[in-house]
Amino acid sequence: MAKFRIWGNRPLQGEITVGGSKNAALPILAATLLTESPSTIHNVPDLLDVRTMIMVLESLGARVETVDRGSYTIYPQQLKPLEPPYELIRKMRASFLVTGPLLARFGKAQVPLPGGCAIGSRPIDLHLKGFAHLGVEVSMRSGYIEGWAEKVHSGEVYLDFPSVGATENVMMLAATIEGETVIANAAREPEVVDLAHFLSLMGAEISGVGSDTVVVRGRKHLEGCSYTIMNDRIEAGTFCVAAAITKGEVIVRGVEYALLRSVLTKLEEVGVQVEKIDEYDVLVAMKERPHATNIKTMPYPGFPTDMQAQFMALLCLADGVSVITETVFESRFAHVGELERMGAKVQVEGRSAVVMGVERLTGAMVTATDLRAGAALVLAGLAAEGMTEVNGVGHIDRGYERLEEKLASLGASIERVSDE
Ligand code: UD1
Repeated sequence: MAKFRIWGNRPLQGEITVGGSKNAALPILAATLLTESPSTIHNVPDLLDVRTMIMVLESLGARVETVDRGSYTIYPQQLKPLEPPYELIRKMRASFLVTGPLLARFGKAQVPLPGGCAIGSRPIDLHLKGFAHLGVEVSMRSGYIEGWAEKVHSGEVYLDFPSVGATENVMMLAATIEGETVIANAAREPEVVDLAHFLSLMGAEISGVGSDTVVVRGRKHLEGCSYTIMNDRIEAGTFCVAAAITKGEVIVRGVEYALLRSVLTKLEEVGVQVEKIDEYDVLVAMKERPHATNIKTMPYPGFPTDMQAQFMALLCLADGVSVITETVFESRFAHVGELERMGAKVQVEGRSAVVMGVERLTGAMVTATDLRAGAALVLAGLAAEGMTEVNGVGHIDRGYERLEEKLASLGASIERVSDE
């Protein structure tokens, strides 16, 4: 696997426009299977996870044609009720999102249990409970989920936790069921809203998206359409922290200010200058050492778990002690041990990490164990004195498109070194 070599301690300067959202692209690509007619999706980021999802669609018989950079037409007419290969599903948990569309198209689905980032046990019980409320009979056999949906009906689904994936899977199946399905305690994430917009264009009627109660009035036959994916708020947040941790000044363009509110508020709290230029552009500048603060990850609109690791990198350099509490995932502190190799002082106690700020980090050899942990190590490397080598860049490529090129365009000294 390739690695990044970073020479740190240089302020980032300039402007950067973020790309399409990974977490919106994955469910929307899966949703193109809900109909027989083709859809064209624009602003799809070029990421490993997206390539995996495209391979999943192809493994099921869909034809995927590249129209242009970031634009794909999906022809799902020849879709077959096949099992997606274990190798693909294991690689990426989001590939389980084809289950809803398979149930909708064929009344049955057989899908291997998913894998995904190494960030704690990530069950799919809420997806299955949701399907069951819509009349799907679900059973589990030798590592597979089997669903039979011969008598699907609209219904009321209550999610014990506002799971993003479960909301999306249930919403997709419900979009093809006539009658009114209510999803209570639904996820409110902007990417769920983006999927709902796509499903509405396909012909479903969906209200309440962005709130905790989503009402879907489905239609048996949906139509393919053309859709442009929203931009990636986590990529945007990562660049905002990159500007702050390097004591730089960067304009981050392309993501609605409101979607970054929790992250920007925390940045302001630690002393970062945040200026809203307009609805989609924000300036982030930092001159001093950050103050300490406390963070608790929560479902949207709370502080995103997908920004926790990057923010920890920043707080490692804060003046004082910060407490970061992870409430969304069971274990998402794999970056701690690696940050410690760079001189950070962090103590993990259950779901909380106590971060005792140090004055400087020093470059070291570190390893990314998951996507956001990898991003955190890159940020730490940008601020550290000396050279940092981040191994396991494949994890970073799952969710950041050409991260090193984008950071280099802001003046970072970073290169990709392939491991022969
Ligand atoms: C999505 C995002 C991921 C983000 C996460 C939380 C995509 C492709 N990925 O993942 O980047 O970190 O939301 O914002 O959009 N859970 C259950 N049972 C279930 C489903 C989930 O217990 O059936 C638990 C999980 O173990 C986890 C929590 O709920 O602790 C949140 O998971 P969920 O919101 O489903 O995340 P994903 O959709 O997998």
